[in-house]
Amino acid sequence: MHISNTDELNKTFGLGGKIRFITENKLIKFIATSKASVLEGYLQGAHITSFIPKDSSDVLWLSPIAKFEHGKAIRGGIPICWPWFGKHPVDTSFPQHGFARNSLFEVAQTAELNNGDLQIILSMQESEASLKLWPYKFKLNLIITFGASLSIELKTENTDSQTFTISEAIHSYFAIKDISTTQLQGLENTPYYDQLLESDTRQANSATKFDQEVDRIYRAPVNELFILREGLAKTRIQQVHGNTVVVWNPWLEKAKSMGDFPDNGFSQMLCIEAANTRYGSIILAPGEHHSITQIITPRRLAELGPV
Ligand code: BG6
Repeated sequence: MHISNTDELNKTFGLGGKIRFITENKLIKFIATSKASVLEGYLQGAHITSFIPKDSSDVLWLSPIAKFEHGKAIRGGIPICWPWFGKHPVDTSFPQHGFARNSLFEVAQTAELNNGDLQIILSMQESEASLKLWPYKFKLNLIITFGASLSIELKTENTDSQTFTISEAIHSYFAIKDISTTQLQGLENTPYYDQLLESDTRQANSATKFDQEVDRIYRAPVNELFILREGLAKTRIQQVHGNTVVVWNPWLEKAKSMGDFPDNGFSQMLCIEAANTRYGSIILAPGEHHSITQIITPRRLAELGPV
C-alpha cells in the first residue's frame, strides 16, 4: 500500500505517536521513539540518518552539509547499496552503489515488539526507472528493529522469471570523536582488497588504525567488530550473511572533492559496511530470497559523548 501523505502515514503506521512521519527537506522523514532509543530516517533510500540510544549521543554520523534532494543519496547515516556495490560491473555510467539509495521506499509495516523495541519495514520493488538500469523484478525490504541495539536487515526476493545476481552493502557511517585515537578490532589477520592500491593484502595481527585514506574490502564472512576509542570498546558491530566488511574513510583530500562532505568531517566518521561484494555475489533463482543483516550495539557511556 503506497501512502505518500504524512497524515495517512501517521494514522496507519504511527503506533499512537511512537513513530512520527513529517515532511522535512522536501522528503518524508520518520522519527521513531522506542523505550531505549530514538531513530530517524527518510523514505527516500530507506535511509536511516540518526540512532540515539537513551541518554547518549548519535551513534551515526550525518554530514552537516548533506543534501536532501529527490533522487539523490544522503551523505552519512546508513545508505543502502543495492543491487550492486561500488561501480556497476559493466557500465560505469550507471549510478555508483546501485539505485536503491536514490529510490523512494514505502512503509510496509510497523510494530512494537514485546520487549519494547520498534520495528519498521520499508519496501520497494521494480519500477519503470529501475528496469532501465536493471532488468529484473524484485522485492527489497529493509527491516529496521531497534531499542538498545539497532538491527538492519536487507532482504532481497527474486520475483522475476530469470535468475539474477546482486552485490550489496549496508553502508553505515559511525560517528567517532577523533579518527586518530580510533581503532577497529576484529579484522586482525584478515585478507583484504585495497581499493586504493588495487591489490590484495592482509591486515597485520593487530587492530586497524587510521592515519590516511582507507578504502578496503575485507574478506571476513563472520564478524564481531568493535570500534575502540583510546583502547576501550565503544560499539559492537556484527553482521550475518555478509561475506565482506568494507572499511572506508576518505581523509582530507577526498573529503575536499565531495560537495556534501565537510573538509574536516573525515576525523569524525568511519564507515563500516556489512557487504556482499563481487567476491561472493549473491545469485538468486526465481522465488529465492536472501538477507544480509548488520547489528549495531552501542555501549551506554553517555558521559563520554560520541564513541
Ligand atoms: C565506499 C567505497 O563503500 O563508499 C568507496 O568503498 C566510496 O570507494 C565510498 O568512495 C563512498 O561512495 P559514494 O558513492 O557514497 O561517494
